[in-house]
Amino acid sequence: MSAVIIYDTKYGHTATYANWIADELHISKYRLDEIGALDLSTYDTIIFGGPIFNGRIKIANLINSELANLNACEIIFFSVGLHPIDRDYFSSICTQNFDYPAQQRVHFYQLQGAVNPEKLKWWHRMMVWFIKKFDHDINQQHIQGLEEAENHMIDLPKRFRKLVSPIVAEVRRHERAISLQ
Ligand SMILES: Cc1cc2nc3c(=O)[nH]c(=O)nc-3n(C[C@H](O)[C@H](O)[C@H](O)COP(=O)(O)O)c2cc1C
Repeated sequence: MSAVIIYDTKYGHTATYANWIADELHISKYRLDEIGALDLSTYDTIIFGGPIFNGRIKIANLINSELANLNACEIIFFSVGLHPIDRDYFSSICTQNFDYPAQQRVHFYQLQGAVNPEKLKWWHRMMVWFIKKFDHDINQQHIQGLEEAENHMIDLPKRFRKLVSPIVAEVRRHERAISLQ
């Protein structure tokens, strides 16, 4: 199978999803800072994954800038964030982070992230406190997620592994279509 995963992560949850997808499809995965001279255009399918921090997705820059060189590739992107899975929210995040050509071409998936308060950098801990206290527009489930994380109740593997199934199915579908050409 000619597919690869390129992911970014700060606290490891996006890496967990990348591992699950790589295990199911038996493909390689690279962290953003490991890709070096890897020629992405040699793959039929590229799966990008990246966390959302304050509405920003760092790996989106790579997708925006490389898209024109990846004309023959199927491109999938999954975000990992604490905001509950929600079409309107996700669509606004994609519009903010991806240029128009990417918005048209990439297949997008929103996956559920988590925070582990013990591992948070101090500036992120302050931001979380600030979000909980002052962001009155924030979705209540998002706040619940932050609180569950503080109480160590979020169990990513048990609750969320099934979220990768549609991504795995899409990659398999595409690879099957290519093998029939
Ligand atoms: C300071 C801060 C800001 C965040 N902002 C967002 C956000 O805007 N939207 C969202 O869905 N999740 C947000 N999150 C949650 C992270 O996306 C979540 O913790 C994710 O699992 C991080 O991925 P990683 O573990 O791969 O680094 C935020 C988390 C922190 C600590």
